Amino acid sequence: TDGPARVVIDLDLPGATISRHLYGHFAEHLGRCIYEGFYVGEDSEIPNTRGIRDDVVEALRALQIPNLRWPGGCFADDYHWKDGIGPREQRPRMVNSHWGDIVEDNSFGTHEFMDLVELLGTEAYVNGNVGSGTVAEMSEWIEYLTRADDSPMASLRRENGRDEPWKVPFFGIGNEAWGCGGNMRAEDYAALARQYATYVRDHAGNEVTRIAAGASDHDYAWTEALMQAMKGLEKREGQAGPFQAISMHYYTMSGPWQDKGSATEFTDEEWYLTLSRAAHAEELVARHATVMDHYDPHKKVGLVFDEWGTWWNVEPGTNPGFLYQQNTVRDALVASIHFDGFHRHADRLLMANIAQTVNVLQAMILTDPDTGALVLTPTYHVFAMNAGHQDARALAAHVLLPEEVAEVDGRALPMISASASTTGSTALVSLSNLDVAEERTLVLDLRGRSVTGHTATVLTGASSAAHNTPEQPDAVAPTELADVRELEQEGRLEITLPPHSFATVELQLG
Ligand code: AHR
Repeated sequence: TDGPARVVIDLDLPGATISRHLYGHFAEHLGRCIYEGFYVGEDSEIPNTRGIRDDVVEALRALQIPNLRWPGGCFADDYHWKDGIGPREQRPRMVNSHWGDIVEDNSFGTHEFMDLVELLGTEAYVNGNVGSGTVAEMSEWIEYLTRADDSPMASLRRENGRDEPWKVPFFGIGNEAWGCGGNMRAEDYAALARQYATYVRDHAGNEVTRIAAGASDHDYAWTEALMQAMKGLEKREGQAGPFQAISMHYYTMSGPWQDKGSATEFTDEEWYLTLSRAAHAEELVARHATVMDHYDPHKKVGLVFDEWGTWWNVEPGTNPGFLYQQNTVRDALVASIHFDGFHRHADRLLMANIAQTVNVLQAMILTDPDTGALVLTPTYHVFAMNAGHQDARALAAHVLLPEEVAEVDGRALPMISASASTTGSTALVSLSNLDVAEERTLVLDLRGRSVTGHTATVLTGASSAAHNTPEQPDAVAPTELADVRELEQEGRLEITLPPHSFATVELQLG
């Protein structure tokens, strides 16, 4: 097109509801995520409630995190939940073979996790063990968590100090069964998923969404095998069974698996490569969804993208098994690009969980191992700025660029990424300027409703690799975006986005 870049939005045509669960989280027994990140123990000098860090809870409550997945990841298929209940000093130890080969003392177990869930005001996504666990063990776990009467497991829970059952709306049937969760073939896992999910029962009015362990990247055959395995097994009237959702995992990195790239030192070429790979996530969602459409045209089965985000080489000098990495403006744009894609596929995507919440991979929060000081990452701020999309209805945002779109890594990478949603009385527009060096001016072309007011916020840093540290906690922090001009033509706002930036525009609708 000629003229300036345009983002055209029909405010009066709301689409699917963007489930708040697309803003979900993931906390594994990995490195310093659970221990030190969330849980410091009651005797810690760091202010805590029953061992759980108060500052971490406060920061995450501000994000309104909708759900938290636990205890893994790969750890889930090694985890035996009964080792993590009862008096802490009597809990058996285990080896965390995937993550650093360290000894885990099981001091953070089911009660501590559910306490964390309640402190956060979030919902539990418990991931069960198929790889090395039994059907009975999984069945008993959900009974222990959610049953109200004097059944054996409900009584055991009471003996351990919790009278009321908890709510557990989401339960994972193993994790990465094609790899760390048992190296299974798709058909073999599909048969086990049918069996295990059958015994994850609804107790005391607790309705569980059972999530079968899904594909990695573009393994569409895996999704297909799971969809085939569901045929003829309706759980309740109109509800898919024996599981109700299928997961997928995809990580963003700029290099190969053996050398994924540095979190903070990267070239412009690696910047674009990374963002192009982040944009690829949407194509993966679309293709897995297309496979699901074939078997489930009415979209009763949810797609759960329960591991996504950047995976870099660990920070120099840190334990390679702990997956601790810094988080820059580039990570923020990886997140905003993912969310734009998620919003466009809200009709099939039931949930998404960034990996992981604290101190591991693309974290919201980093804590200093020596002082305990807490830092909010650029990714945290994207979650905060985008919070208004939770449970709002998606609006199509058409990006029209004057220039020809260049290809990066074999796919077109427009320099503006955008998405929008509406609550009815308000709309929220997310805009990312992927250009590492140049500011971009665009016209927001708002049609179908009158706009009575607007406020805009921007997130960027002095460089594309800018990041927050205890010394400079606000090197990358949201500020007001002043560069928003109302054009003469009604419903048009001209906005200038700084290079490498993410912005949100909140609109009041008449
Ligand atoms: O998030 C780190 C690991 O990545 C998870 O444990 C596993 O599921 C995936 O391979």
